[in-house]
Amino acid sequence: MERPGRKRLMVFTGSANPELAEEVAKLLDVELGRVERGRFADGEIYVRYIDSVRGADCFVIQSHSNPINEHIMEQLIMIDALKRASAKRITAVVPFYGYARQDKKGRPREPITARMMGDLFMAAGADRIASVDLHTGQVQGFIDAPFDSLTALPLFEDYLSRRLEGPITMVSPDSGGVKRATRFAHHLDAEVAFVYKRRRTDVRNEVVAQWVVGDVEGRHCVIVDDIIDTAGTVVASAELVMERGALSVMVVATHGVLSGPAVKRISTAPISELVITNTLPIAKEAVALGNVTVLSVAPLVAGTIEAIFNDASVSEIFKGENT
Ligand code: R5P
Repeated sequence: MERPGRKRLMVFTGSANPELAEEVAKLLDVELGRVERGRFADGEIYVRYIDSVRGADCFVIQSHSNPINEHIMEQLIMIDALKRASAKRITAVVPFYGYARQDKKGRPREPITARMMGDLFMAAGADRIASVDLHTGQVQGFIDAPFDSLTALPLFEDYLSRRLEGPITMVSPDSGGVKRATRFAHHLDAEVAFVYKRRRTDVRNEVVAQWVVGDVEGRHCVIVDDIIDTAGTVVASAELVMERGALSVMVVATHGVLSGPAVKRISTAPISELVITNTLPIAKEAVALGNVTVLSVAPLVAGTIEAIFNDASVSEIFKGENT
């Protein structure tokens, strides 16, 4: 009997962000795997791989964009189908990891959905997960398997270093993001400040009070966040920083969820430029604002898939800053 001993790379996309997956596949010089998709009359999701996946190293790219529950379920079903079709290894590639913000109990009787998501991936049959700029690093420890944490920091650093001039302050819009802002500041030779925000516990996505800690007067401020959802956080921070005498405000965030009032809020906010990535599909209305720049994470995702496939270092791609 002869064993060819050659590994086979197969990359698949869910329906959330096929444009990103296409870009990744192109960089890897592979075709996206063929998948038949359908729905049962009651809305249940059906998927079937058209070609054999037996013995293959499989990557399922899916961002948890709106409708988020549908997209999560689709990815889980795709993983289940791969497992049952004897794929050798399955990596869930999740550019935006849904439900990660609920990573601890803030009040009695709340869930910890970030952990539950890990359990779901493992139960479906994933062998590992790769994600970009997790809301908090500890989510990596919520599965008992390898978790590759990617970061868009190199993309932003490269872009900002070409855009910024004069005295710069990197501003975290909450105390939890100070580490992120400090990392940026270190690379861009900037100061660090943060906004103290308080959220209403009775209404989701509502910021009610804030103070700024750090030097922003007479400086160009860059607000750095991981997620822009309704934009309440960054817009309130931008207004506050301008009130405190900032020269200008730019906003940088990896995941442009941009739900509900986000685009409207950004359009009237004192924000000179919003820089996001394509971990999620970006709404046309956002691009139409004219001051929104979208950077592609495809090279980072493709590099990571290649490294995992070749058993090479992922952290080397990010110079060890992806923790
Ligand atoms: C919260 O901790 C996150 O880092 C973001 O600041 C938050 O999710 C943004 O939400 P929104 O845009 O709705 O204020």
